[in-house]
Amino acid sequence: MANPTSHATRFKEERLAALMRWLVPIQAAVTRKHDYADPTLLYVDGMAGAGVNHFGEESFDGSPLVMLEALDALSVGGTLGTARSHLVAIERDYRQWLELSVNVARHAGYLHSASVTGQLEVSFPVRGCVGEGLHKVFSERLRRNGGRVIYGLVFLDPTNPGDLVSAIDAVADVVNHRRARLDVALWTSTTQWKRVSKSQPDHPSLSDIMGKLGRSRWLTSDVPKIPRCCDNSNAFQWQMFVGTKGDFDGWSKAGFHDTESPTGRRLLAMALKTRKEYQPPPEGQYELLHLR
Ligand SMILES: C[S@@+](CC[C@H](N)C(=O)[O-])C[C@H]1O[C@@H](n2cnc3c(N)ncnc32)[C@H](O)[C@@H]1O
Repeated sequence: MANPTSHATRFKEERLAALMRWLVPIQAAVTRKHDYADPTLLYVDGMAGAGVNHFGEESFDGSPLVMLEALDALSVGGTLGTARSHLVAIERDYRQWLELSVNVARHAGYLHSASVTGQLEVSFPVRGCVGEGLHKVFSERLRRNGGRVIYGLVFLDPTNPGDLVSAIDAVADVVNHRRARLDVALWTSTTQWKRVSKSQPDHPSLSDIMGKLGRSRWLTSDVPKIPRCCDNSNAFQWQMFVGTKGDFDGWSKAGFHDTESPTGRRLLAMALKTRKEYQPPPEGQYELLHLR
């Protein structure tokens, strides 16, 4: 029988690829315009997993390979002009990291396009916690670039809320650094956050985490629809959020909604509130949600 988790995971990888195709050219254009910007964009997959998703007989690319392919295709296609990009995958678990290292090396070898021309740098995967890994990569880049502002994206994909809660302060320190213009993409099960808040009232909520990341605008994806065949009362609700301080638009091309728009507000309310708390507003009216 088809697996509800594999549907959600495929949705995640598709959204991530679409996000990269939309966001990276915008970030590249901004860095080309400003001397204070580092011309090498930084993309960090902070909870990278093994690089390949396995669900029974099926297997498909995981987030680090999705990001690698998107950066390679954009560079080779000339969309990034003179901008370059640098991809770093970070993974805490030793076995996952080993498999990730093999998968990234093999995949980068197959592509051997943008990395050969120097437009794309792919680091050997970092083994460790995302907070420390990100801090190390970022400070190293600042040291090399003479203090220029670093643009890019950090992708966070925790297995459970606790993984993100324990890393959030260190991640927030980097993305809120005065020399960072790093957007944040977060894929998470909103059901897990609601369950943990119910059983542990002092546990940080998803909106606390979004507040710590200090973005001025949040976008949200739709919620993946699990086909009827796989419907399962234990299926979690999953969603991707993108936080930015950038002043740009066009995210609907990548399948996202601004959380200030009517649809985005409804999706955010459904993500943050339990079914009991969530009262759909009368048609045409949407309640305001305050993240901070
Ligand atoms: C859901 S999996 C990642 C899947 C992957 N992003 C993908 O789409 O293919 C989450 C991974 O995060 C790793 N992880 C959890 N907490 C972490 C942390 N604080 N730092 C780095 N990795 C972490 C786990 O070991 C696990 O492999």
